[in-house]
This record gives sequence, C-alpha cells and structure tokens, in this order.
Amino acid sequence: MEVVIVPDSATGGELIAEAMAALLRRKPDALLGVSTGSTPLPVYKALAAKVRDFEVDASHARICQLDEYVGLPSGHPEAYRSVVLREVVEPLGLTDASFMGPDGSADDVAAACLDYERALAEAGGVDLQLLGIGTDGHIGFNEPCSSLASRTRIKTLTEQTRQDNARFFKGVEEVPHHVITQGIGTILQARHLVLLATGEAKAHAVALAVEGPLSALVPASALQLHPHATVVVDEAAASSL
Ligand code: GLP
Repeated sequence: MEVVIVPDSATGGELIAEAMAALLRRKPDALLGVSTGSTPLPVYKALAAKVRDFEVDASHARICQLDEYVGLPSGHPEAYRSVVLREVVEPLGLTDASFMGPDGSADDVAAACLDYERALAEAGGVDLQLLGIGTDGHIGFNEPCSSLASRTRIKTLTEQTRQDNARFFKGVEEVPHHVITQGIGTILQARHLVLLATGEAKAHAVALAVEGPLSALVPASALQLHPHATVVVDEAAASSL
C-alpha cells in the first residue's frame, strides 16, 4: 500500500484527478468507480477542469457507483445516483448512458444487488475505484464487521454513520436505515484502489486502516490485501500515523 501525504484536500484532489486522467489517456473507456460524501468533491472538480482545459478527453469514460441508499424515491437529490450524476457525470460532459449504479428503489433489492454485480462484471470490472472512509473505518457502506469477502448486498447503517450523513438531509430521522453497497470482496476486484481521507475526524480510522491489523472491524484495512492500493491523506488525516 502506498501512502501519500499532501498538504490539503485540493492537492489531494489534483493528484487523484491526474491519476484518473492518465488512466483515461491510456484507456479512454476506463470504468471509474466513484464515491460520494464531501471528501471526493475536489477530485471531481479537478478532473472536470482537466476536461475543460483539453488536458484529457473523458468522452468515452464510464462511471459506476459504489453504494446507494435504499428506499429514497428515484430522483431524490440525496440519492447517490443523483449525487453522482450531478457531481461527476454532468461536469465531465457525459450522459446517463455512461453511468451505472445499483437500483436503490427496486421492489426486489436482493435482485438489484445481483444485477449490479453482474453488470460490473460484464463491463469488464472497475479500473480505478475512488474510496472515502467513514469515521468508523467503513468503505462504501461496508460497516464494521462486514465480511472481507462480501459482495454487493443490502446493509443496515450504524447510528454513527446515519449521524455523520445527517448533514445532507433535514435531520437524522430522514437518513435511510438501509443501503446497497458493493461488498469488500467486490471493491477489492478493482484494478487500482485509491482512498482519499481529509481532516482530523478521519485520523483515527486512517491509522487503523493503514497501520492496524487486517480486520473486519475496520473495513478499510482490507486495502492491505490489494496489490495496487494508494491512500492519499492530508496532514490532518495523517496525524495519527
Ligand atoms: C458515506 C459513503 C462513503 C464515504 C463516507 C464518508 O458513508 N457511503 O462512500 O466514504 O460517506 O463521507 P465524507 O467524505 O463526507 O466524510
């Protein structure tokens, strides 16, 4: 695992956007796995700027989602599908056709999970998966104790994660209890994993993931199993390393 310490989140965003751009220059139709939350926004901003400045042609890029809330009405602004379309797909000048994600409003959620696993495999697998990290060490929505071999499935959020994500909703009571997430085993199949963490609130989780033992109690520690994993942290998130 490679750990890169950067002075601030904008520098981290630029570094990862350049890695994505380099991948797209090599493989124009690369499948980029994206994550949500506040942390990755500088990456998407920097990548969109590179597209605007003709540093990279992203017109053949394909984008896929890491996880999704269950039960939000389709088109809800905080459904991760809406977030990824708004923050990634549209700024890159792509259309819905280049995007894939699990259907969190499906009647049969278990079937939607299987469908998404199949779709990822048929797409040839994820080339680069961008990850954030929860304050409890989760990746995607794989909360502590998720099996390290897990596949895309329905999960129940911990109270801590619902509290952490309440800022995107009117209050914690609006945050769904259930989600669909790529499993840890699914995530580990991506060819390159890039985890970005910024801010002191992530320092403890980052230290456990990078320096702690491999453990299902810290889902992000699964990156230790991956042959090509890069962890990009600002100085605050690196402060417990
Ligand atoms: C959610 C997402 C994760 C993300 C995490 C951290 O739980 N499912 O993919 O990494 O939030 O978000 P933030 O970057 O806003 O702290």
